[in-house]
Amino acid sequence: MDYEVPLYRFFLIAIVLSFALSGASSDFNRMHVKLEYDKNSNTVYVKSPESKLLLSGRPFETRVDCIEGPLTCILRFSSVLEVSEASGECGKISLRPVKPGVIVGICLDLSKGLWYGGSELQYQRWPFKNITLPWQPYVTNDIVPLNQSVGNVIERHWLSSNGVGVFIPATSPLYFKHMTGESGSFSEMCFIAASMRHMTGFMKTVAPDLVLNVCKMVNILETHRHMSKEYFDLPIGQPDALMFKSPIWSTWAKFKVDINQGKVLQFADEIGKHGFSHSQLEIDDMFSSFYGEFDFSPHKFPDAKNMIRELKMKGFRVTVWVTPFANVESLAF
Ligand SMILES: *[C@@H]1O[C@H](CO)[C@@H](O)[C@H](O)[C@H]1NC(C)=O
Ligand SMILES: *[C@@H]1O[C@H](CO)[C@@H](O)[C@H](O)[C@H]1NC(C)=O
Repeated sequence: MDYEVPLYRFFLIAIVLSFALSGASSDFNRMHVKLEYDKNSNTVYVKSPESKLLLSGRPFETRVDCIEGPLTCILRFSSVLEVSEASGECGKISLRPVKPGVIVGICLDLSKGLWYGGSELQYQRWPFKNITLPWQPYVTNDIVPLNQSVGNVIERHWLSSNGVGVFIPATSPLYFKHMTGESGSFSEMCFIAASMRHMTGFMKTVAPDLVLNVCKMVNILETHRHMSKEYFDLPIGQPDALMFKSPIWSTWAKFKVDINQGKVLQFADEIGKHGFSHSQLEIDDMFSSFYGEFDFSPHKFPDAKNMIRELKMKGFRVTVWVTPFANVESLAF
């Protein structure tokens, strides 16, 4: 199933690459990213301390009324663009629209280095190659019917084999486009700071800033470590270790949506009878009457409380599968 490639693979790639690169400079933490904006060519350059070009960007403007179409009215950039190299390893590119109705954006040319990160995709290709994702809000989406959409595992974080990382904070609501060639030669990712909420309301007000935090360390692993510390919160706990050691059984594999109390209890018995170990039993799709409801359907599960008690007595942790959306005919809607 193409669409189920989890994001952790991306971190594995980072680790593998770091082994390949270990033995390089020991001066890990004293890299200084260089950011320059050339007004004449309207280009932002991200360079290494030795002035090697690592990434470049082309800022632009568009209008609020253009964004819902194919976004053809890309205008020459005349807003405010500032670059700063505040913290040594990391710098900041800030684009600030100054006129109401104007939205700022930037297209990054990713052709230097191999790039990873972003979101889960139906056709997942790391490093980025052969990707066509037209303009869309950079928010979680369903990649099964929409194969040119970002998926439901998503970060505003990208990393390159040349040690450059980009992180866009949540304060910039994002529209996004990503195009790459099959051979990897052409690779471009574009961002616009706007959301539906902003678009409907801000014809008369000034649009949000677009901020890109850009870091450069000696290799992709160091960049990832540094940016994780800088921009992400660490987990505060860890899951039950049993879940790593023994299978999580899901009713979906055997029953799909056709489940009820008798079937769940019988399933648990069968797992035991066959001598399989277990950590958890996930009561999956359609335990409720409609999607979006968290209560068991009284019709399918007349005594859910006792069922759960019985499953726990058999040693199962018990979970249910819930959806972040609701059927329009449900009470939850
Ligand atoms: C490029 O991607 C499309 C689907 O997005 C796929 O059909 C095609 O085979 C891919 N080409 C290569 C060379 O991988
Ligand atoms: C992507 O989805 C569209 C519409 O559902 C479909 O027509 C097309 O064949 C799909 N492309 C690939 C490469 O799966």
